[in-house]
Amino acid sequence: MRGSCRPRNTRDRAVCTTNCPTLIVTVGLPARGKTYISKKLTRYLNWIGVPTKEFNVGQYRRECVKIYKSFEFFRPDNEEGLKIRRQCALAALNDVRQYLSVEGGQVAVFDATNTTRERRATIIKFAEQNGFKVFFVESVCEDPDVIAENIVQVKLGSPDYIHCNTEDAVEDFMKRIKCYETSYQPLDEVLDRDLSYIKIMDVGRRYLVNRVVDHIQSRIVYYLMNIHITPRSIYLCRHGESDLNTKGRIGGDAALSARGKEFAKHLRKFIQDQNIKDLKVWTSQMKRTIQTAEALGAPYEQWKSLNEIDAGVCEEMMYEEIQEHFPLEFALRDQDKYRYRYPKGESYEDLVQRLEPVIMELERQENVLVICHQAVMRCLLAYFLDKTADELPYLKCPLHTVLKLTPVAYGDTQSALQKLYARSASHVNGNRVSMKTWIECHK
Ligand code: F6P
Repeated sequence: MRGSCRPRNTRDRAVCTTNCPTLIVTVGLPARGKTYISKKLTRYLNWIGVPTKEFNVGQYRRECVKIYKSFEFFRPDNEEGLKIRRQCALAALNDVRQYLSVEGGQVAVFDATNTTRERRATIIKFAEQNGFKVFFVESVCEDPDVIAENIVQVKLGSPDYIHCNTEDAVEDFMKRIKCYETSYQPLDEVLDRDLSYIKIMDVGRRYLVNRVVDHIQSRIVYYLMNIHITPRSIYLCRHGESDLNTKGRIGGDAALSARGKEFAKHLRKFIQDQNIKDLKVWTSQMKRTIQTAEALGAPYEQWKSLNEIDAGVCEEMMYEEIQEHFPLEFALRDQDKYRYRYPKGESYEDLVQRLEPVIMELERQENVLVICHQAVMRCLLAYFLDKTADELPYLKCPLHTVLKLTPVAYGDTQSALQKLYARSASHVNGNRVSMKTWIECHK
């Protein structure tokens, strides 16, 4: 629960309690992955149940100056440009205040370059006045290949360069970076020793972490130290059909049915055909996922955290029976499926907490096949596809279907999802294994 952070009347400052809202502030030159980090972090925090929103100052600028002409706008001697940029930053901060103080937000991510000490001082003052804690996330990278990759993947698709050919856009963007270079003041170990921050160097080759003051900051640091952008895919599927599935009964620990065993065989062929480098296979500790993995003839690892949602007193019942014997429970689940907890069992919300270490490990790993269960798969998928708590319990995760998630470093989630969501061709042997592909993107 969030503590109250009522401003004191004296000295225009607010009292900052342990559970004050947090303002995360990115720092770094353009094309250093700040927006990628902001979006990904926001998605993670929302998924673990911390209401979080990002405020991208670039978007405020685009709304204010409808047509982008050139890098000249960003020149340090462009008075008009400076004025507009300052106004946009202030407008974004105003919205941050509204979100954290009125709308119940717990974390705001202020995504901008924030490259000067003066700008950061303004933000710190703003946070002090409102009783927000500040945590800086600086990305420092001088590797020309990484910068070029970022420009190609993100900036060329930006509305700023919509009417521009690739070469001109890259040239303009490089000049834009130059505009910031002269005034860039990175976070300094001595001058900024009292600030809370993480400095990420060369996309995670090294980190410098300073003055982490609470639980949320340590979680943020831990998360940022685990993510990577090495190309890989995550495959998600449920176990083959079980004997209890055939009877329409939920939960339990039944073995595979004949159809389930058949699926497991086809899954083996399907995975072989994909020719995946160093694939790791994870299962739950339930018979039906283990039997499915056994058929693959490859090593696999069992995770207790991947076990299906515990339906408590309703385990092994049919939905009709639950409705008959526990009509109130049945209705309550219908009203709020995400938060509803089965008597002596779990809710989807509980499940997300249980799965957090799995997500963290998935972030660290490369190619992984997760053989799990319906509710578990929904929770994992919701994380990757940025689905809300309301959408999560209704995500479609049918039996005998493999979902392939391929993160695209720096990609644009929205447009790429629309473009690349594909029901792909891999219907193996008469429809036994169907595969859907989501390209999960990070911007
Ligand atoms: O029916 C299979 C199953 O995996 C059950 O074990 C589990 O309780 C259920 O799906 C989860 O789906 P829902 O939340 O829609 O009931």
